[in-house]
Order: sequence, then C-alpha cells, then structure tokens
Amino acid sequence: MTGPDSRHDQEAAAAVLERLTERPKVALVLGSGLGEFADTLAAPVRVPYGDIPHFPQPTVPGHVGELVLGRVGNLPVLTARGRFHYYEGHDLETIARPIRLFSLLGAKTVIITNAAGCVNTGWSEGDLMLITGHLDSTYLRSADDPQPVRDETIYRPESLNLAREAARETGIELREGIYAWALGPSYETPAEIRHIRRLGGDAVGMSTLPEMEAAAELGLQVIGISCLTNYAAGIRDVPLNHAEVLATSRRVQAAFGRLVTAILGKLAP
Ligand code: HPA
Repeated sequence: MTGPDSRHDQEAAAAVLERLTERPKVALVLGSGLGEFADTLAAPVRVPYGDIPHFPQPTVPGHVGELVLGRVGNLPVLTARGRFHYYEGHDLETIARPIRLFSLLGAKTVIITNAAGCVNTGWSEGDLMLITGHLDSTYLRSADDPQPVRDETIYRPESLNLAREAARETGIELREGIYAWALGPSYETPAEIRHIRRLGGDAVGMSTLPEMEAAAELGLQVIGISCLTNYAAGIRDVPLNHAEVLATSRRVQAAFGRLVTAILGKLAP
C-alpha cells in the first residue's frame, strides 16, 4: 500500500519500535473482557494508544487502549488491549491499523480474539470457539445474503490444527464454527439471529473479520478465537447487555489464558 495510510503506518511502527525492547514474533488482539491475558506476560513493556501516532482511542468499556509487549516462555508476544470497530465510526483502514502495525513490527502470526454472541443453540455461554469460517453479515459489500467463507488463506488447515492440538493438550473443549460479522452497535434482532443461523452462522460479533482479512492479505498466519459470552438475541427470553458480555468473558479468562498460552507454546521457536 502507498499513500497516507502507509506513511501513517510507518510512523506508528517507528514510534512503537522506539519503546520496544525486542520485536514480537506473535501478536494478539484481546477482545472485550479478555485483556487480562496481557498481565500474564513476563517483562512487560506498555505503550498506550495515545502515544502511537494515528491510533485512535478505543471508546468501548473493556477495551483499555494499550499495547503490551512481553514474553511467554522465550517467545516475544505483543498484545493489543483494545480494538477499533466499524460502529465507532472507523473505516476499514483504521480498523486494520493494529494488524498492519503487527506486521511492520515483524510478527508472523496473529491471534485475534473477541467476545461474541452464541448463535448455535447446542452450545453454552462461556464456550470458546475456534473460527473456521465466516459470514459477512454487514451487507457492506453486497446486498445479497452471505455464504459461509472458509478461505484457506485465512483459515489455514495447519493453523486450525495447531489450535485444536493446544485445546486437546490443555483439556479445554474448543468449539469450531462460523463467525458472523455484524455491524452493531446495537445487538442483533431475534429475526437477524434466526437468519444468521439459517445461513450457517454459529457466533455473531461486531469485530474480527476485517482484522483477519487484513492479516491474511499481509501473509500472516491467523488464528481466531471467540469467547461466546451470551446467547444471541431471541435464544433466551432475556435482554442482552455489555455488562453480561464482560462478566462472562472475565469468568472464562483463566481457561482462555491457558488455551492461548498453549497455542503460543506451539509457536515458540
Ligand atoms: N452480538 C454481537 N456482538 C456481540 C454479542 C452479540 O450477541 N455478544 C458479544 N458481542
């Protein structure tokens, strides 16, 4: 890419690099309520988004807005606590800015995580799901109904197998399914959720897909994990709210952390 975005990316990377003690091999985006994983890193170096040129401040509760570089074993890992959503008014370039930063800093693998609504009625709140495909349920790119996409440049079989193996070794039940990207900021309607289920969706959220697509385009290895924090709209007779999303993701943080640590162990040199 050339033009202002690429210049802005270079400036962001230069500013971050000045603060880092080493380059990351793996980078993670930590979803709503999952940010505490960053506190488990050894020898942490923190860079608030406010210190990074061209990085906006996250506006969503549960998204702190800082990068934390540290080590898991001997692996240098960069975590982003806080991401940018379309519903906050950001364009796709801005949403993918952290991903381009990861790539410029030298990361070869990105693990992208989120809190998501559970569309699959056979699963439970608090389950973790490996993203094996997606639906673009934003209708931004087409007015036609989306079909599940299992693009192997994003969902590489070896990456999926690595996550499955890590789950098996840690004794964590890892669901697998299709993540539907919805625009937000409102939660979906029950009718929208029924429709997403009919189209093949298992989980629904308002992030992640543009980040995974950008990462794959940059040639990065991608692993996507959803924490299913609530049943999607209409499945249970209770209103959804962000506090419930944060409460469930906090409850699952420990298992989430073990899974991510096991995945990182398999990526270590
Ligand atoms: N819908 C969309 N995004 C979400 C949800 C949901 O039910 N839960 C957490 N993020």
